[in-house]
Amino acid sequence: MCGIVGYIGWQEAAPVLLKGLKRLEYRGYDSAGIALLNGTISVMKQKGNVSGLETDTAKLREKMPGATIGIGHTRWATHGDPSDRNAHPHLNAAGDIAVIHNGIIENYSALKQELISEGYLFISDTDSEVLVHLIDWLWKKDASLDLESATRTALRHVDGAYGLCVISSREPDRIVVARKGSPLVIGIGEGEFFIASDAAPIVEHTNKVVYLSDGELAVVTKEGYSVKTIENVEQEKLVTELDFSLEKIEKGGFEHFMLKEIFEQPSVMHDVMRGRVRLEEGRVCLGGIEDYLDRLKQAKRIVICACGTSWHAGLIGEYLIEEFARIPVEVDYASEFRYRNPIVGKDDVVIVISQSGETADTLAALRTAKEKGALVMGICNVVGSTIARETLCGMYTHAGPEVGVASTKAFTAQVIMLYMLAMALSKGRTISHDEIILNLTELADLPAKADRILNLDGQIRDIAERFKDAKNFLYLGRGYNFPVALEGALKLKEISYIHAEGYPAAEMKHGPIALIDEDMPVIFIATRDSTYAKILSNIEEVRSRKGRVIAIASEGDKEVARLAEHVIYIPQASGPITPLLTVIPLQLLAYHIATLRGCNVDRPRNLAKSVTVE
Ligand code: F6R
Repeated sequence: MCGIVGYIGWQEAAPVLLKGLKRLEYRGYDSAGIALLNGTISVMKQKGNVSGLETDTAKLREKMPGATIGIGHTRWATHGDPSDRNAHPHLNAAGDIAVIHNGIIENYSALKQELISEGYLFISDTDSEVLVHLIDWLWKKDASLDLESATRTALRHVDGAYGLCVISSREPDRIVVARKGSPLVIGIGEGEFFIASDAAPIVEHTNKVVYLSDGELAVVTKEGYSVKTIENVEQEKLVTELDFSLEKIEKGGFEHFMLKEIFEQPSVMHDVMRGRVRLEEGRVCLGGIEDYLDRLKQAKRIVICACGTSWHAGLIGEYLIEEFARIPVEVDYASEFRYRNPIVGKDDVVIVISQSGETADTLAALRTAKEKGALVMGICNVVGSTIARETLCGMYTHAGPEVGVASTKAFTAQVIMLYMLAMALSKGRTISHDEIILNLTELADLPAKADRILNLDGQIRDIAERFKDAKNFLYLGRGYNFPVALEGALKLKEISYIHAEGYPAAEMKHGPIALIDEDMPVIFIATRDSTYAKILSNIEEVRSRKGRVIAIASEGDKEVARLAEHVIYIPQASGPITPLLTVIPLQLLAYHIATLRGCNVDRPRNLAKSVTVE
């Protein structure tokens, strides 16, 4: 999830691009770059955030005074570590074409091999670099092409997602832009045009915008713009007026980053699975661990180490891997693992899970496991993070930058990764091909189901209104939904400062039941799975002690409605899939309770996004 800006008009481009990149920095901030066009192309790019680019851009301006055309990029690494050479823009060998790209080119590896065999030299590890060489190659092969048609032809060879800007000194009066899967907006000014991956950098210049649709390509000059499909069919575009403040669009129109991230989950689910869930082949393709898969399958035991929300994801991983792959799994707090002289060795696999990839305890657990000879694998969100670098193999969750301190979309992405891992470990061993197809089909249906749950936001806010003044909450679940009970309680306490506890529902009788009275809201996760009948009995037990029951239940379940004060229905799903759905209403409930109490949900007191101290 990178940020893209482009400018063409009468102003000096560099300051406009820099300011625009700052507005887009929440989309990614591991490296940034700018290309200016004034007869020739000049590029300045480097690892680090946009501010780091400022001094160099001043030099670039001196070198290219009066450049009124340019493109800029702020990167959130997916392929290739954050580094100067992986930063965008990417140039062709002659330096007369520059490309910036947001998205993932899924067939980049095949395209890269082809281009290498044609004599092309790759400087970066990114998937994006293939685009600039592909355009260059096609243009060279057919001199009748121009920048627009060469780009269009190139995009016909590309699978995956892109938001793209291309400039060339061979046609120094235009920017070619294209979109598929990654958003692009054109802002219309007076004799000037702005291009960006969302309206944030545009709104301070103009409120007139054109949103490109998937499969469209536009040519933007100082005089105007024209939009066609990739198939070269002209398109009439509607000019839309922006009617929101700068503050809001930074959060994509949401009040808080946390809410934005909760609502991003359906698209994050697609991103995590993209290129990995191969339904037609009945398998998952996990590039980052492929070479180690046989060793992973032979593990005597898997130990999962993580902290906080990532530890909850790990607990679900335990259930998934044991159920499908039949490999024993233990889940440990990284902070405990590192200090208790754990028994691990070369027959064990240790999986460390971390959104930030920088959590001190998780990193120390990783190093301990490595020292003891275990195969250490990582599941991280931040590309190039320390944990990602130090693990032998691993997988990125591709959830995009998570800004809200309370983790939401990273959690669902981690659980999907673990689900896919369980499938990869099971294949050819413990479950049949048909069963894998069935499970992957259900996984692929997940984003649509998550979307339906997000539509319940209003109902969940009403429930939050009724319970916002409670002093304590109890969250109960069984099986796959026991870790969700823990996660729901953690979300509530960290952002609303209400005391909340999560328990396996059956454990209630062994202590927490003493807390139940008419002031105690109890959240039950009571979906229809193998423990459903048991959880109904637990609800009865709470009801008979006057506890106030809020239930998360499967659509159509009238039995739960009879017992609970409030029911939030989620779409039908099998047990192993349910945590990915049941967690969403709990995130929303915590969010609304916290905002109704006036808490700063994006920056809760005492917490940090990345806990780099133990
Ligand atoms: C809770 C939360 C934390 C993190 C924990 C681990 O919402 O965000 O509990 O999950 O600090 O962080 P990572 O996953 O970055 O290692």
